[in-house]
Amino acid sequence: MSEAKRQSKGPVRGYFFDKSVVVTGASSGIGHGVALAFGEQGAQVALLARRRAQLEELAQKINKAGGKALALDCDVTDRARVLWAIEQVKEAFGGVDILINSAGLLLSDPVEQMRPEDLEKMMAVNVFGALNAMQAVLPVMRKANSGSIVNISSLAGRRGVSPLGGYSSTKFALVGMTEALRIELFNTGIKVSLVMPGVIDTPMARDALKHDSLKGVSTMMAMPARWVTWAVLAAAAFGLTEVDVPPGAAVVEKLASLFPGVTDALLSVGTGIMRRAGALMGGSDQPEHKAKR
Ligand SMILES: NC(=O)c1ccc[n+]([C@@H]2O[C@H](COP(=O)([O-])OP(=O)(O)OC[C@H]3O[C@@H](n4cnc5c(N)ncnc54)[C@H](OP(=O)(O)O)[C@@H]3O)[C@@H](O)[C@H]2O)c1
Repeated sequence: MSEAKRQSKGPVRGYFFDKSVVVTGASSGIGHGVALAFGEQGAQVALLARRRAQLEELAQKINKAGGKALALDCDVTDRARVLWAIEQVKEAFGGVDILINSAGLLLSDPVEQMRPEDLEKMMAVNVFGALNAMQAVLPVMRKANSGSIVNISSLAGRRGVSPLGGYSSTKFALVGMTEALRIELFNTGIKVSLVMPGVIDTPMARDALKHDSLKGVSTMMAMPARWVTWAVLAAAAFGLTEVDVPPGAAVVEKLASLFPGVTDALLSVGTGIMRRAGALMGGSDQPEHKAKR
C-alpha cells in the first residue's frame, strides 16, 4: 500500500491489527510475502531468517505500510538462537499470537543418488527448525490460552514426487508432527494449521527447476506466491486445519493414494509431458548444468 493511500485511509486497522506475528523464512519468497501482508494489516511482525540485509529492507517496507517490524537474524536450526529470538519478540511486542513456519530448504536429487548429508540439511531446517520455533512459542500461547501456528508443508508432503524424494520426506515429517500437535492442543484455544502449496514461483522453485531431471519444466507453470499468502492469512484468521494451494489438491492426492500404481504411472508420464510443454512455452532456456548447492 502506498504512503499516500495509507494516509488518505487513516491508520491501518486490518484484521490482524496489533497482533504479534513471527514469520520464519521472511527474507525471501513465501515468508517475505506473508510477513508484508501481515504488516500491511497493522500487525507487529518479527522477521526471522539468516540474511539480515533482506530482513532490514522488509522491515522498512512494513513500518512504512503501517505495521511494526522487528528484524532478527536467526538460523532456525540453532535452537538457542530461536529461543533468544522469541524472547526478543516477547519483549518488543508483549507476546506471540501467530507463528508462521515458512523457513525451508529444497535440495533435489533422485533417491538413488541423494547424498545423506543433503537430507540431513533439509531435515534440520524443514523439520527441526519448525519444531524449534513451535516449542519456543508454545509456552507463551499456552499462558494466553490462544494462538495460531501455521506450518507451510507442501503437496510433496502428501505424495512423494521425483526428484524430490528427500524434500518430500521432510515435508511428510512436518505434516505428521503438525497433525499430532493439533491433537495435543485440542480445546486449548491454540489452532494449528497446515498450508500445502504446489509449485510456487519463488527462488526455491526456480532453483529446483534447474535440476537435470526437470530441465525444460517452465516456471510459467508455477503459481504466484500471493496465492500462498492468502492461504496462510485465511488459515491464521479462521484456524483452518489444512489449506491446499490450489484448493483441494491434497484431497486429490489422498484419493490418488488409493491407487498408488496408477498414480506412479501418471506422475511419470505427466513429468515428461510437462517438460515438453515447458520447452515449447520457452522453458528451454533452463541451464544445462546441475543445480548448484
Ligand atoms: N516454492 C515452492 O514451490 C514451494 C512449494 C511448496 C512448499 N514450499 C515451502 O514454502 C516455504 C517457503 O519457501 P519459498 O518458496 O519461499 O523458498 P525461498 O524463497 O527459498 O525462501 C526460503 C526461506 O527460508 C529461509 N531459510 C532457509 N534456511 C534457513 C535457516 N537455516 N534458518 C532460517 N531461515 C532459513 C531463507 O532465508 P535465509 O536464507 O535468509 O536464511 C528464506 O527466507 C518452504 O518451507 C518451502 O518448503 C515452497
